[in-house]
Amino acid sequence: MNKILYNIKEALPTDAESIAQAEEAVFADPWSSSGIAHFSACDSAFVLCAKNEAGRLCGYAIGSFAAGEGELLRIAVLPQYRKSGIGTAILYEFIHRMTARRVAALFLEVRLSNTSAQSLYEKAGFQKYAVRRNYYKHPPEDAIMMRIDLDI
Ligand SMILES: CC(C)(COP(=O)(O)OP(=O)(O)OC[C@H]1O[C@@H](n2cnc3c(N)ncnc32)[C@H](O)[C@@H]1OP(=O)(O)O)[C@@H](O)C(=O)NCCC(=O)NCCS
Repeated sequence: MNKILYNIKEALPTDAESIAQAEEAVFADPWSSSGIAHFSACDSAFVLCAKNEAGRLCGYAIGSFAAGEGELLRIAVLPQYRKSGIGTAILYEFIHRMTARRVAALFLEVRLSNTSAQSLYEKAGFQKYAVRRNYYKHPPEDAIMMRIDLDI
């Protein structure tokens, strides 16, 4: 496979539309561009974008934080760019930016069946701490709750 060159930056307001299109392609409960733009503009949240040399979206992450705790709300890599380290790079940049915002504990939830995402998170240092029964809809599924404590 050819090496994919990309950079990771905070999203611009104009990125909301392409992220919303990626949401449609990846998730059963896609977020709208206005919802994504809200997180991008919010002081207690941020949106990261990985883009290739042509400026096309390869992946993204959305997180929020308050009172020293943060949450990874969304992370995705478009199917054609997966398994080349982009998800890992976005997640590490996300953790770095949460640390810079004085976040001491970072949380996320993931579908029980989503073992590839669980593996990504565990490699970055997240640990499973609880299961929430029937947390997800469309289709119904349990959520694995994960957290990582950050050095701030
Ligand atoms: C989860 C996701 C973001 C990973 O992105 P990616 O760019 O493919 O991830 P990476 O290439 O950095 O892989 C990192 C690790 O994730 C795990 N992983 C990624 N894809 C995997 C797969 N298809 N099967 C098993 N493990 C996988 C592996 O542990 C991998 O490490 P390795 O390359 O040493 O085996 C991507 O698969 C995705 O967008 N999935 C759909 C959206 C999603 O599920 N988001 C999470 C919701 S909680």
